[in-house]
Amino acid sequence: MQLLKDKIKAEGLALSDQILKVDSFLNHQMDPVLMKEIGKEFAERFNEEGITKVLTIESSGIGPGLMAALELNVPMIFARKKKSLTLSEGLLTATVYSYTKKETNTITVSTNYIESGDRVLIIDDFLANGQAALGLMEICEKAGASVQGIGIVIEKAFQDGGAQLRKQGVRVESLARIQALQQGSITFVEESLVTAYE
Ligand code: G4P
Repeated sequence: MQLLKDKIKAEGLALSDQILKVDSFLNHQMDPVLMKEIGKEFAERFNEEGITKVLTIESSGIGPGLMAALELNVPMIFARKKKSLTLSEGLLTATVYSYTKKETNTITVSTNYIESGDRVLIIDDFLANGQAALGLMEICEKAGASVQGIGIVIEKAFQDGGAQLRKQGVRVESLARIQALQQGSITFVEESLVTAYE
C-alpha cells in the first residue's frame, strides 16, 4: 500500500536492525486519515470472504481493526491482555509469548462475541514472530469460528511470523513488508527502496 509505505519512509525510524518506531501514526499518536485508508484496503482484500467479525488485540490493533470492521460493516472485538473488571465468566483464553518484549500475556475474549460459525478476519499492527496472531487463531478455534484471513499493517518479513502463519495455510495480507532495518534506513520487500534520515 503506497500511502502507508510513504508514511513509513517519511516518519518511521529504524531504532535498530530489529525495531521500527512508528509512534507518530500507529503506536501512540494515530493518523485517522491513514487508518481509514488502511481499513478500506483490508476490506477490499477480504471482501469476498464473508467476514462476520474482525478480531484484534489491544492496544495498537484497535485503530486499524476498527476501521476494517467499519468498512466491512461487522463488529470488531479486541482481545484483552489484562483482566477486566466486568469480564470474568465465559472467557476464551490463549497464552502469547512476546520474543520482542520477553513477556507472556494471557489474552482473553468473551464467548459472547466470537461464536461457532463466525468467519473471522484477524487484524494486527505488527507481525514479527507471529505469536499474537497464533494466540488469536487459537481463540477462534476454541470458539468454533473459522479464520478467513489475517491482515497486518506492517510485517517484518525478516522475522519468521509471516512464514509460520502462511505455512499453516492461512491467508496473510500485509500492507507493508519490511525486508531489512538498519539504524537510519528501511528497506521494503520488492521495491528495495532505502530511505535515509538526516
Ligand atoms: P508477534 O506477536 O508477531 O510475535 O510480535 P512480538 O511478540 O515480537 O511483538 C510484541 C509487541 O511488540 C507487539 O505490541 C508488537 O506490535 C510490538 N512490535 C514488535 N516489533 C515491533 C517493531 O518493530 N516496532 C514496533 N513499534 N512495535 C513492534 P504490543 O505489546 O501488543 O503493544 P501495543 O499493541 O499495546 O502497542
